[in-house]
Amino acid sequence: MSAGAERPAERRPPGRRQVRLGAHFPGVNATSVWSDPASGSHIDFSSFVHMARTAERSRFDFFFLAEGLRLREKKGRIHDLDVVGRPDTLAVLAALSAVTEHLGLVGTLTTTYNEPYEVARQLATLDHLSGGRAGWNAVTSPDAFTGANFRRGGFLDRADRYDRAAEFVTVVRSLWRSWGVDDLVADTDGARFVRDVEVGAFSHRGRHFDVEGHFPLPRSPQVEPVVLQAGDSDAGRAFGATHADGIFTLARGLDEARAFSADLKGRAAAAGRDPDHLLILPAATFALGDTTEEAERHAAEVRRAQVSGATALQFLERFYNRDLSGYDPDGPLPDVEPLPEPEDPLLVQGQVVPTVDVVAQVREWRELAAAKGLSLRDLVVEVSARQTFVGTAAEIAEQIDHRVQTGAADGFILVPHLSPGGLDELAERVVPLLQERGSVPASYTGRTLRENLGLPAEPPVRSHPVRSHP
Ligand SMILES: Cc1cc2nc3c(=O)[nH]c(=O)nc-3n(C[C@H](O)[C@H](O)[C@H](O)COP(=O)(O)O)c2cc1C
Repeated sequence: MSAGAERPAERRPPGRRQVRLGAHFPGVNATSVWSDPASGSHIDFSSFVHMARTAERSRFDFFFLAEGLRLREKKGRIHDLDVVGRPDTLAVLAALSAVTEHLGLVGTLTTTYNEPYEVARQLATLDHLSGGRAGWNAVTSPDAFTGANFRRGGFLDRADRYDRAAEFVTVVRSLWRSWGVDDLVADTDGARFVRDVEVGAFSHRGRHFDVEGHFPLPRSPQVEPVVLQAGDSDAGRAFGATHADGIFTLARGLDEARAFSADLKGRAAAAGRDPDHLLILPAATFALGDTTEEAERHAAEVRRAQVSGATALQFLERFYNRDLSGYDPDGPLPDVEPLPEPEDPLLVQGQVVPTVDVVAQVREWRELAAAKGLSLRDLVVEVSARQTFVGTAAEIAEQIDHRVQTGAADGFILVPHLSPGGLDELAERVVPLLQERGSVPASYTGRTLRENLGLPAEPPVRSHPVRSHP
């Protein structure tokens, strides 16, 4: 099926943009609520199967796994607040390819500690196993803390991460394209298995990689599995706009989201690309109810469950740069002033470091807590936890659709707070309303993930080995 054949089958009203949907498996983030009685395993294969099948029944474009390579720590001890324990991404996706038929399978893998050859081979393998449903969220993992897992440790300056990432993705793509269309001959009469002895040849010499050889796998169904990128800095945006098919980003307010999307699409156009071939896919959380009031109540309950007293203290420690374990989460904000740098370098590890003026930030929060009579924990719930979409099924369908139709996003990667059933209600109640509007197709019309996402189905294939010596 070509990309051109996809559109008539969708019966999308003229001018209406398609809402792309990803299903984020919970864990590796602060939104998962492991303590809820309805929360199941994050490791049993049955949990992955449950959510993948829910997503596929409701015609999500893809299933998505984030990656956390190191557990968060406080002062050298595992920070026992998060959902921890995550099986290997590629093994999970490969297993899911056997129990799903149409759903894209997207995994997060870092370009900082891996090698292009192994990632190219792993993803080409997944693409073969799944019949063209593989995707890769290419991230750049800045911290030396995570790097300590690996031989090279934290070997890259922050500024060099995207330089390596760009070269990494370029090499991976050249390996994916190293076999031409007709290279696998399997001609028993002529006693030839491959076209000639050069098939799969690659050679690349650059600043970060110096590799050559013969790639061991013929071209996969998509030729190039779908590549997403996550990392919102200027360098991250430049990398994503040039090299990615989609951007996984944080949800923002409507105006800011539109500006972000316009910025990325503008950068893609400036790089000579069709901006429609760069999908903006923010992470989105949600709380659904039978009435607006019930949804708001549910949203508030989930936010409180996401922010335990210990989580609230740990959140503030990143701003105070002090160990706050002696403070009562149900009491007022700590009466000490924030420090410009952490008092102990091991205080918080594996978490994003705030880039704001911490003194001004804490002052603002003190004023807010005083004005609203908030305890320390109430304040953290108020400022840190907020669902992107809250409402009835009809209201959430409208909120999602409005954002896509007004150019604030091309779709969403939906992040439930529970595993494995956290997506069920939204999939069953909201997606059919998007389908009624013609914003989500009734069924899968493409064969591959690329086709279902409206990306060029077959990127130009070179029938001769790529040799690049930048
Ligand atoms: C929405 C989003 C999701 C991300 N998911 C992951 C992830 O699963 N694993 C990971 O190691 N890094 C992840 N990152 C981190 C980025 O790869 C990047 O290292 C980080 O955002 C800092 O990059 P920056 O300097 O461009 O902001 C994510 C970033 C964003 C914005």
